[in-house]
Amino acid sequence: MVAPRPAPVDAYPTDTSDTQAETEETLLKHIPDPNSSTNPPPTLQKNVHLQFLVRNLLQGFPSRYISQDASQPWLLFWTIQSFSILQAGLDPNNKQRAIDTIMEWQHPDGGFGGGPGQAPHLLPTYAAISALAIVGRPGPGGGWDQIDREKLYKFFLSLKQPDGSFLVMDHGEVDVRGIYCLLVTASLLDLLTPELVEGTPAFIASCQTYEGGFASASQPYFSASPDSEREGASTLLSSPRPPLGEAHGGYTFCALASWVMLLPFLPPSNAPTINTKTLLRWLTNMQGTEIELGGFKGRTNKLVDGCYSWWVGGAFALLESIGVGGPRHGHEPEAEHAREPHHGDDEGWDDVDDVLFNRKALQEYILYAGQHPAGGLRDKPPKAADAYHTLYCLCGLSSAQHHLVISPARRQAIYDVWKSEPSSSEGDIRKKVFAESLSWVEEEGAAKFVGGTNNRVNATHPIFNLTITHTEGIMSHFYKQTVPP
Ligand code: FPP
Ligand code: ZN
Repeated sequence: MVAPRPAPVDAYPTDTSDTQAETEETLLKHIPDPNSSTNPPPTLQKNVHLQFLVRNLLQGFPSRYISQDASQPWLLFWTIQSFSILQAGLDPNNKQRAIDTIMEWQHPDGGFGGGPGQAPHLLPTYAAISALAIVGRPGPGGGWDQIDREKLYKFFLSLKQPDGSFLVMDHGEVDVRGIYCLLVTASLLDLLTPELVEGTPAFIASCQTYEGGFASASQPYFSASPDSEREGASTLLSSPRPPLGEAHGGYTFCALASWVMLLPFLPPSNAPTINTKTLLRWLTNMQGTEIELGGFKGRTNKLVDGCYSWWVGGAFALLESIGVGGPRHGHEPEAEHAREPHHGDDEGWDDVDDVLFNRKALQEYILYAGQHPAGGLRDKPPKAADAYHTLYCLCGLSSAQHHLVISPARRQAIYDVWKSEPSSSEGDIRKKVFAESLSWVEEEGAAKFVGGTNNRVNATHPIFNLTITHTEGIMSHFYKQTVPP
């Protein structure tokens, strides 16, 4: 067992080095004694977490959530997708209650707001549609056919900017989170068209920073010129535009997932590119050391946090789907990530599997530090649990347990269900989006469960963060096509 090493410090304490040291001290208390041979394996406390979720959903969220009044679709999505990951679901009455609530958030002009009567915005639209993918159904009152897709498409187009990006709402800002939300929604509802996403791959590529991760946006296409006050003029900036701000795990997930969704739309010549080599290096370097229990950080020189288990940990599957990284990538593990397990049965773990992303260590972070004893999951101890961290710790755990890959055989089988349809440029792109979205499968024999199979959670779609069953259900409805078994 390698002794956990603290982050190196110099003689100049700062807030950053102080909070890092405090975090390490707290996390150390959550690592089982490496010298004891009787450490019980860590357990995912599924029942207490379910009770936490049920309490929020049925009794109402505690008053500290008041600040999230404009995030009602998110609170619902985080909660019901956590149920799905924990292999639980709502009964028909509560499903109907959820559908009716979601439909109150649809705006008469298209899109969904953060609550009844609130202005439509890309982020709550994504959360509402994802929640409907879980609880909705076809037919009257089932939600799916109550979505005004025509107005939604117009809403999306109204937000489009000349540089390929999208405002998050009317008069709002540009942000890759919004683009991810738009692309997921459009993919699920059969609204993804070349018209909608023209120029968007180049915008995404322009958000990658020198570190390798992605920032929230890039410099605006137009900037106010020095003379703008006098003339109201603006200057057209040259392309490529530099990224705006710092590489961050949340934006990096959104940018990379967007990039993967946009691959069918890349122009045949002069296609934009992203640097997958620096991206892979950046993602790898976001994983904390032994003393940080293998959790992920969201940005350089910041603290590990359970939610990045998904935003950063989940990005490895996306990158692998475009041929970069993967369990057998490269060489021997680097010394700092070559760790011994803290406990229990190590059978079936192959060091080579963990060269770039230490799946075992990430599961340990979530199980030892991420679980709040009173239910729900959290950023880090001693923080309280909340709905957001509960979902993103659970789906991070899922992405560390399961290994999902694109199966060329399944992709072909999905294409084959369209055989009888004549080819047309518009139809072919729809088929491609459908087939690419649904050809993710779990690599056989690759799932690994720290603490044993009782800790198993459901697999989740690496792009959409819905179970494969929910993804297939909603997509086959909107594309009017069955999915092969
Ligand atoms: C920094 O918070 C957080 C951000 C800069 C944005 C994070 C973005 C996401 C988590 C992606 C959300 C995705 C969708 C689809 C809406 P901080 O300074 O408190 O945290 P840090 O210290 O860990 O950077
Ligand atoms: Zn967090």
